[in-house]
Amino acid sequence: MANPSLLILPGDGIGPEVMEQVKRVIAWFGDNRGMQFDVSEDLVGGAAYDAHGTPLHDDTMAKALEVDAVLLGAVGGPKYDDLDFSVKPERGLLRLRKEMDLFSNLRPAQCFDALADFSSLKKDVVAGLDIMIVRELTSGVYFGEPRGIFEEGNERVGINTQRYTESEIDRVARSAFELARRRNNKVCSMEKANVMESGILWREVVQKVHDEDYPDVELSHMYADNGAMQLVRAPKQFDVILTDNLFGDILSDCAAMLTGSLGMLPSASLGAPAANGRPKALYEPVHGSAPDITGQGKANPIACVLSFAMALRYSFDQGAEATRLENAIEAVLAGGARTADLMGAEGGRPISTTEMGDAILAALDESL
Ligand code: IPM
Ligand code: MG
Repeated sequence: MANPSLLILPGDGIGPEVMEQVKRVIAWFGDNRGMQFDVSEDLVGGAAYDAHGTPLHDDTMAKALEVDAVLLGAVGGPKYDDLDFSVKPERGLLRLRKEMDLFSNLRPAQCFDALADFSSLKKDVVAGLDIMIVRELTSGVYFGEPRGIFEEGNERVGINTQRYTESEIDRVARSAFELARRRNNKVCSMEKANVMESGILWREVVQKVHDEDYPDVELSHMYADNGAMQLVRAPKQFDVILTDNLFGDILSDCAAMLTGSLGMLPSASLGAPAANGRPKALYEPVHGSAPDITGQGKANPIACVLSFAMALRYSFDQGAEATRLENAIEAVLAGGARTADLMGAEGGRPISTTEMGDAILAALDESL
């Protein structure tokens, strides 16, 4: 059987630096666990724009549709701020999500014990936190038509459209319920059914999918603004949060910060299963390209490495190996290794991106 295939798109800013460490981890699994991947690499975002004048070349798009999983670093940077909207680095990422039809975006927010002091919230509010946000990723106001900036009388009007079909809500709801069954069996769905018709439909469809096919899962509904408040007040009440594209964008940043560092959080964007049973999938850290620290060896590679752990679990059915990698990272943190973003009041010398990679590989060796 052919090796599973991975397309690596390091992208911009700290993307290439953190991805270097992921490549070492991938090689480790090849050398030590007999898991060989066919790895190819290409450009996305500003890097692709610089080379080809587009943030995602058609050939790269075609490759992404062929491989078993895509690993992406980060896109964007101040250098590209003045580009036309249609060729901004972010458009490359949005095109991948849309054309791969990655409708279900999994964003875990997990608070590592060693970092609980790091959260801006009190330790007891976040210690042991383990929630999963399921964000709809291919529809809603990000893609709805009409959109644009138009002339209206003697002024301009900016328009975006929040639009959801029943089937779009149905499929992402199913993915949240399936996930909940493998966790603590609770889903809280968030929308604004008090002001938006799309929210009313969202609530109805989620409830229907639940009642028909997932009655064993505990389901609740919450307005998204209250959800934001509850996330900061008492985040441990949640298990799986199901929400739309825009609310999910905002709520996941909020949840991420609870854990102490954006540099720690991975994500998976999944589509429907392909013929070989594997879902179309793209894995990426939640953090951005961090232009302020690019090229200084300061970036924390953990979020990107944990994204590869998610690939092992969700694309390659290697849950035990994913856990091995997650435990290695937990051990590294418990041992006191800290990149600059994780330096708190305790002080000390931060380690570099590469040193964090060294520590993770050493912990993996220990795990054998
Ligand atoms: C995210 C990012 C993206 C989004 C940007 C980079 C297009 O904020 O993945 O959360 O808004 O979805
Ligand atoms: Mg975001």
